[in-house]
Amino acid sequence: MNKAVRKAVIAGNWKMNKTPAEAKELINAIAPLVKDAGCDVVACTPFVDLSAAQEAAEGTNIQIGAENCHWAVSGAFTGEVSAQMLAAMGVGIVIIGHSERRQYFGETDVTVHDRVRAALDAGLTVILCVGETLEQREQGITNELVALQTKIALGGVSGEELKRIIIAYEPVWAIGTGKTATAQQANEVCHVIREVIAQLYGPEAAEAFTIQYGGSMNAGNAAELLAQPDVDGGLIGGASLKPADFAAIVKAATEG
Ligand code: 13P
Repeated sequence: MNKAVRKAVIAGNWKMNKTPAEAKELINAIAPLVKDAGCDVVACTPFVDLSAAQEAAEGTNIQIGAENCHWAVSGAFTGEVSAQMLAAMGVGIVIIGHSERRQYFGETDVTVHDRVRAALDAGLTVILCVGETLEQREQGITNELVALQTKIALGGVSGEELKRIIIAYEPVWAIGTGKTATAQQANEVCHVIREVIAQLYGPEAAEAFTIQYGGSMNAGNAAELLAQPDVDGGLIGGASLKPADFAAIVKAATEG
């Protein structure tokens, strides 16, 4: 596998943080630090921050994304936002299936699949999150579970559409805990995901496919994680809210 053929993508997941005014400030602080990035740079923000973040990111190399979208185009779904609505406001990328949505908001593999479908239909790029809990890791079912999550989410997705999908491997036990997967653990599961892509779409598609690691990635550990052969980028929570730390991760991806 030749890592050089793949585009590294460093994406921030701001989660439920920042008001619109703070979003503007954060983008303004990050932009000069990442302007020479040799990778794609994305900031996924709360819905209410999207406009402010887009305005601040105009003319920079930062793409603004959302953190979720609904599976329907429109309808009686109080509190939800459709992929079409995001596309209409010029948002090009969306996180789907984050473990916090699975854990706290009843997201299942089936609803993740449906949301992926809707996002692709709206022309969006998807950052699809998969990953195991600590209990599942201890049971020794990580690889099978992640393979299954990937297969269900990608059901019906064409080879052409796959080019608009990135998978983020996020072990649930490493999210927000300060506990990072070792570089070997991260690479092993990213490799399993790449094998699933190869099975479903062939070796060329697998070789070109971007897979991120997420879970307590920070300025100190990013270089080692991003140097792994199957780790093509990162989905960053806490550190994406700190401009210098986020920029250090972007730098590590540029070099790795
Ligand atoms: P942390 O980087 O805060 O662990 O969060 C990772 C994450 O969930 C990104 O989506």
